[in-house]
Amino acid sequence: MLTLEELAQRNVAIVEKYGPWTHNIYLGEGFYTLSDGLEHADYRVKLFLRIVSDLAGKPLNTLRVLDLACLNGIYGLEFAMHGAQVVGIEGREANLVKAQFAKDTLGLDNIELVVDDVRNLSREKYGLFDVVICSGIVYHLDTPDVFGFIEKIGEVCTGLTIVDGHISFTPNEKREYKGETYWGRSYREHVPGATAEEIEKNLLASLDNSSSFWLTLLSLNNLLARSGFTSVYECHYPVRIERYRDRVTLVAMKGKPLHLQTTPLLNDTPEQFYPRQLPDIAHPSQQSAYTEIAVGQELGSLLKQLEDSPDRTVVTLAQLSGKLVDAKDYWQSEAERLRLEFFKLQSYTRDLEQEWNAKNRRIDALETRLNQQSLRARLSTLVSKLRGR
Ligand SMILES: C[S@@+](CC[C@H](N)C(=O)[O-])C[C@H]1O[C@@H](n2cnc3c(N)ncnc32)[C@H](O)[C@@H]1O
Repeated sequence: MLTLEELAQRNVAIVEKYGPWTHNIYLGEGFYTLSDGLEHADYRVKLFLRIVSDLAGKPLNTLRVLDLACLNGIYGLEFAMHGAQVVGIEGREANLVKAQFAKDTLGLDNIELVVDDVRNLSREKYGLFDVVICSGIVYHLDTPDVFGFIEKIGEVCTGLTIVDGHISFTPNEKREYKGETYWGRSYREHVPGATAEEIEKNLLASLDNSSSFWLTLLSLNNLLARSGFTSVYECHYPVRIERYRDRVTLVAMKGKPLHLQTTPLLNDTPEQFYPRQLPDIAHPSQQSAYTEIAVGQELGSLLKQLEDSPDRTVVTLAQLSGKLVDAKDYWQSEAERLRLEFFKLQSYTRDLEQEWNAKNRRIDALETRLNQQSLRARLSTLVSKLRGR
């Protein structure tokens, strides 16, 4: 067991040679690899462990877990400390050396750390896994690699895969794969003209592709579904608030085939996939708020995009203004519908008023008759009393 001082000394040597840590891992003796505060990835560790514990259907110490693009290995190490058999794959040696240091310090022999490109993932090379952690890597791959990568995950995963990362808010560009269309936006990974050494030292970025393709949530869902997953969920709890709101946590499950009993027609109906976008129409009671949010989000991502590609921004602005025209058309037709409804109600109210007046007149007449009758009765009593005298 190393003392705090020895740990600190070894760590300084590693950081000097390989650069800083990203994951904040507690190695015992009061030693944290980054700080004694909480970092973003710490909340993800909690979230991923909770998801797997809740959904894997088996105890953690019976699971085989794959941690893709594992960086300093925090997720894989956590699962290994719960007894799982773990493989961590990372493309940069400088990142994995630190994971190896953590593994050795923690005395774990149930986690294997491999320097490899995640695009080399295959069942033949790595075998099958109950759980795949795919955090912070899908959005670092370009097309067509990203498609093949998700397909490979579908091949090696027998239980569940956690896909955590940024998605594109806007379906700006389309890419074709195996006859299907996927939507998203390009993202520049390295500055133009970056040297191989600069790229290698860019510890959190892609390995060699100069840009990557961020899929929209809908396209990512379609891709997971076409890669053999039977359902996909978005996780909202435990709470994890990231720096950016375009980061999502999806859980894709490998389930068994099902035969529907109450709706047998669906058994022979081809699987449904998402279109480019969902309709921009919400329930009338909150349509205007919805349009504001959607347009606000797009404007936000447009501002970011403007720096990367002014040309594309112009195209998106045109699409956005089209959307506003659609929203205006919608509101015009909604106003027209309400106006007609108002006229209908107005004439209905007029009918009701007439009916009400007619009934009132009848009541008045009846009352008059009633009064006359009682007058007549009182008169006849009076007459008979007079006669009696
Ligand atoms: C943003 S970090 C995410 C790390 C970690 N999975 C997490 O969620 O905290 C991206 C990581 O992917 C690694 N990486 C990028 N492209 C890769 C590739 N093609 N193969 C293997 N690793 C890659 C980078 O070296 C880096 O460690």
